[in-house]
Amino acid sequence: MTQLFDFDSINLSPFVDGKRISLSGADVIPTYDAASGSVLCNVPVSDENIVNDAVASAKRALKGPWAKVIPAERSRMLMRVAQLIRKDAARLATIESLDSGKPLREAKGDIETSARYFEYYAGIADKLQGDTIPLGPDFVSFTMHEPIGVTAHIIPWNFPLVTTARGLAPALAAGCTAVVKPAEQTPLTALVLADILTEAGVPPGVVNIICGPGNKTGALLCEHPDVAHVTFTGSVATGKTVMRAAASHVASVTMELGGKSPVVVLADANMDDALNGTLKAAFMNAGQVCSAGSRLVIEKSCADAFLDKLAARVGAFTLGRGIDDPDIGPVISEQQVRKVASIVAESGAQTLAGGKLGKPSGLNGWFYEPTVLLAKDARSVAVQEEIFGPVLTVQIADDFDHACALAEDTPYGLVGGIYTRDVSKALKFSRHLSAGQIFINQYFAGGVETPFGGTKNSGFGREKGLEGLKAYYAVKTVTARL
Ligand code: NAI
Ligand code: MG
Repeated sequence: MTQLFDFDSINLSPFVDGKRISLSGADVIPTYDAASGSVLCNVPVSDENIVNDAVASAKRALKGPWAKVIPAERSRMLMRVAQLIRKDAARLATIESLDSGKPLREAKGDIETSARYFEYYAGIADKLQGDTIPLGPDFVSFTMHEPIGVTAHIIPWNFPLVTTARGLAPALAAGCTAVVKPAEQTPLTALVLADILTEAGVPPGVVNIICGPGNKTGALLCEHPDVAHVTFTGSVATGKTVMRAAASHVASVTMELGGKSPVVVLADANMDDALNGTLKAAFMNAGQVCSAGSRLVIEKSCADAFLDKLAARVGAFTLGRGIDDPDIGPVISEQQVRKVASIVAESGAQTLAGGKLGKPSGLNGWFYEPTVLLAKDARSVAVQEEIFGPVLTVQIADDFDHACALAEDTPYGLVGGIYTRDVSKALKFSRHLSAGQIFINQYFAGGVETPFGGTKNSGFGREKGLEGLKAYYAVKTVTARL
């Protein structure tokens, strides 16, 4: 891998109070190239002292240097972060692709979206204002938006820099400070972001970046009594653990958990759009997307022709190293590829495409063939469980009402997509489904500006858009008797 990128150019030390802390003799965690299974870097683990120092520095900065930066300057700083991410985009995308295994074009898209988060929230930093409340002639009452405090950000491995930017940019815009803990599998772009924040003039302590295992470094951070809010993206099980840790010191949480989101295709849909949309929904980032459209719910009268085309397209997908920009890259780890294989094996479903470990020539990493399963039973694991790999489960619906019932019937509620030319059906579906967002005639429509989050086991709280700011400020009401 060294011929593809000089990993020695990345400073792997934790970033605390604006400085790198060199940890000689610390434990390390390897981060791997998922395509080859080889180690890219060994990243030092931040222990309890480092976690405490990081939170203490974020706490000092909150009332100190960061509180003194006027909102307009905060805005300019965030804009500089966006510009510096764009300037370094090629390098960041290469690192992200190698560290996560995702196709290079997707990594490039992620880096641009990361820049866009800082740009978007830069625009609001000096416009977060409260209300005046009419109480009659004897009172003056108004609200102020105050930063909620020190925020912790627990980042997953599927969208490393994007998820970091999605939480960090609104937190900083609202005047909060932050401690970020990237995923063990993909810590590298967050570590590079530390240099960018410094270059952009973000004062020491405003953002701290520490690495280590979730159940150690991550847990210590979430348990810390001086953390006021935890923004978590990851699995349902870990989300519950993080909620318990936050509850111990009454911190608020944003929980962005898993999904098993349906893509409903009705017989009146534009079938080319529906096919392209379904493929993107299910196979982007090898299906390792919380909002993936991992279940196709298709109306019976159009199913045969659609499924033939779908299986042919999936069968023709190329599998390879992310950096070579194949259709599908590896999954993140050996553990993840085993999880995918075991769910497929247990599913009892009919395999329409794929269904085996992938073996692209010359690569020994963690590949799974892009797979389409036809579910026989709505209660099977293929329908009910998040697989988080390149696996699309198909369910056949008798009609629109049946499609709505199947779409709703999982423990998750993140996203729902529908392809139809019938506006009334699309809107009925939008009302019917428990989900944080509905995509009509384009899966993944929207972006940085459109609020995003879950219901049911998919979590709660909203990120992105102006809604995404609300977790990061508290409203204080001041009322005076005149
Ligand atoms: P995970 O939820 O355990 O890890 C996500 C993040 O949480 C990582 O940064 C990890 O270090 C941290 N973490 C783990 N335990 C923690 C603790 N006790 N306290 C604080 N932080 C902690 O997910 P994992 O094990 O990487 O993947 C397992 C499954 O989770 C996947 O197969 C997938 O189904 C789901 N997942 C969902 C994601 C999403 O976007 N919603 C992202 C990643 C995984
Ligand atoms: Mg890695």
